[in-house]
Amino acid sequence: MNALAGKRGLVTGIANDNSIAWGCAKAFRAMGAELAVTYLNDKARVHVEPLARQVDAALLLPLDLNQPGQLEAVFERIAAEWGELDFVLHAIAYAPLADLQGRVTDCSRQGFLTAMDISCWSFIRMAHLAEPLMPGGGTLFCMSYYGSEMVVENYNMMGPVKAALESATRYLAAELGPQGIRVHAISPGPLKTRAASGISGFEQLLYKAQDKAPIRSLVDIDDVGEATAWLATDAARRMTGQTLYIDGGYHIID
Ligand SMILES: NC(=O)c1ccc[n+]([C@@H]2O[C@H](COP(=O)([O-])OP(=O)(O)OC[C@H]3O[C@@H](n4cnc5c(N)ncnc54)[C@H](O)[C@@H]3O)[C@@H](O)[C@H]2O)c1
Repeated sequence: MNALAGKRGLVTGIANDNSIAWGCAKAFRAMGAELAVTYLNDKARVHVEPLARQVDAALLLPLDLNQPGQLEAVFERIAAEWGELDFVLHAIAYAPLADLQGRVTDCSRQGFLTAMDISCWSFIRMAHLAEPLMPGGGTLFCMSYYGSEMVVENYNMMGPVKAALESATRYLAAELGPQGIRVHAISPGPLKTRAASGISGFEQLLYKAQDKAPIRSLVDIDDVGEATAWLATDAARRMTGQTLYIDGGYHIID
């Protein structure tokens, strides 16, 4: 139960109590970790602050990746307060709706670059900023989806973006592994969140997941959180670089 006691982690991507990052934050805390939590902006803060309080977050910091310097400020504050960091959760994705809801063939350069910047490059940057705070090792997590490797109807432009994220995970794992820093992409089955609401026909995706997954049920944010938190523990010390599915087995079925 206390496998993360004495460990400190940064959790990004909580928008509300449906967020995957919230499921992770609860599980990290239940295992004894101390947390720093970010919120997008003042509008989001009213939703995130009560949740941060529920997990006794030691730090609550603004993070809008579109604001130059804000990501660096988060890590500077953590360095000043804690000196070191044991894990980082990146649970952030964004794509302009017009591009996300059209064909990949038609997506705009700006839309594609924005989606890559916010949903993928920011994870690479977080790894860069976390590295000096993890002299004794640590774990980095990002959130991906099956649409990275298979063509999932309506997932569109996020498919190539998540493929890049999973590939970045492997390169970061190879580069940072010698320092004891492990890197994982988590690939949950579909979950009804705010980010998911931008995907057309999302309900159909949920029905299909429930029908096809060997477990015959949808995953919830606690399923994702508990498995992710376990990967941050020493029990998972020889695991790195994978994309780990938490999808009831959906990805093994034709
Ligand atoms: N919901 C699903 O079905 C599903 C499945 C697999 C993977 N994922 C991934 O899980 C992650 C979390 O998404 P979620 O489903 O919990 O939705 P969510 O809407 O709860 O979380 C998305 C988060 O991204 C943040 N964000 C967006 N733009 C940002 C910016 N410019 N700067 C900082 N933060 C920004 C939002 O504030 C929000 O907290 C995403 O990477 C998503 O692609 C979701």
